[in-house]
Amino acid sequence: MAVGSNHRDVLIEHYSDTTMKHIVLMEKDGDREVIITDSQGDIIQSSKENKEVLEKYLPTAKDIDLKNDQILASDWEGLPYIISAHPYKVDSSHSGYIIMFQSTRPIEQLVGKLNMYFGLAGVTSIVVLLIIYAALSKFLTRPLIRMKEATEKLSEGDFDVSLPFIGNDELGELSGSIQKLANDLERLKTERNEFLASIAHELSTPLTYLIGYSKVAMRQGVNEKDRKHYLEIIAEESDRMKELVKNLLDLAKMDENTFTVSKEYFKVCPFFEDILQLVGPSFNLKKLSLEIICEEDFEIHADPLRLEQIILNLLDNALKYSIEQSVVTIKVFKKGKKVAISIADFGIGIPSEETPFIFEKLYRVEKSRSRTSGGSGIGLAIVKELVDAHNGSIEVESSLGRGSTFTIII
Ligand SMILES: Nc1ncnc2c1ncn2[C@@H]1O[C@H](COP(=O)(O)OP(=O)(O)OP(=O)(O)O)[C@@H](O)[C@H]1O
Ligand SMILES: [Mg+2]
Repeated sequence: MAVGSNHRDVLIEHYSDTTMKHIVLMEKDGDREVIITDSQGDIIQSSKENKEVLEKYLPTAKDIDLKNDQILASDWEGLPYIISAHPYKVDSSHSGYIIMFQSTRPIEQLVGKLNMYFGLAGVTSIVVLLIIYAALSKFLTRPLIRMKEATEKLSEGDFDVSLPFIGNDELGELSGSIQKLANDLERLKTERNEFLASIAHELSTPLTYLIGYSKVAMRQGVNEKDRKHYLEIIAEESDRMKELVKNLLDLAKMDENTFTVSKEYFKVCPFFEDILQLVGPSFNLKKLSLEIICEEDFEIHADPLRLEQIILNLLDNALKYSIEQSVVTIKVFKKGKKVAISIADFGIGIPSEETPFIFEKLYRVEKSRSRTSGGSGIGLAIVKELVDAHNGSIEVESSLGRGSTFTIII
């Protein structure tokens, strides 16, 4: 359009055949064509030799009567040219139009190229999206699949599961919980196996005695005195076995929480006096003195039967692990709203590295030492369960060779 106006201005200024030829010459080789007509629309000059080619796109050229520049055809998709008309008037007898033909081929080529680029960009983004989708779904689903496999393994009884750490989000927490569950189950399995092995061992020892001594007692020629002695051992071992089985059953009940604690209020001093009556003879037998310090008589909120079981177990240990002619002291006192009961002995004591384990089932310090005193390592496990059932706590202070003090707070 601007070029057409320029040509027109030049033509008005230097109207001559030469100028027209120059204008036509300027547009000869390029994407533009030019036609110069007179006022009737008859072609004076054309940049194309074959001017009919241009003429046919000029149906209205003869009819146009323009005062100003104007676009005659702008349909770049349908026509090979965008056509603009630029009227000129030098004087009354020299006027007409400069008609510019801008080829639409470069535009079409450009649009074609753009279309191709857009298409390519579209395809590329779809591919990229697909890759991201695949990566994301893998990233999200793989941990879930692993967790599913892990839980399936757990349900089949295989607790050897290892899930990688995948972060602190919800998925990570879930994975962590499954891992913890697997570890706990594995630990319980090991503990159970160890426990069963210990029970088997504990039961097999008295059984060996029973079988051995019964065989000896049955032998021909054994005198009555010896036979009586063997039978006594058999009776003693049977008692011990019965006690062990009873304790194990107690412990099993506690584990299942099937035992009940029925708390009531009762006075502490008379309660401990009764216990003293009960255990006094066995302490006397070992020449041990048992003292009770219960200065203030107040009430305790506990299950009397279970508390008695706790105290008897602790006194049994104090008796078993005390040296002869020493003192065992029970002290009862108020501790805030709760009651503290401490049982102190001057016995053989417990090595400090062993104290964390003495409340475990079937745990004994120096296995041989308990066997001679008849312990099986269940007493303190029962005590701990019973204290826990009272929402209480138990602590031990002990030094080897000096004695031990067990303190319960209920
Ligand atoms: N007062 C104590 N002095 C020294 N050692 C103790 C005392 N109380 C407990 N122990 C040690 O702790 C271990 C565990 O005690 P626990 O009462 O559980 O078992 P036990 O006395 O051996 O057997 P059980 O009580 O089942 O007959 C004992 O084997 C013993 O070595
Ligand atoms: Mg004991």
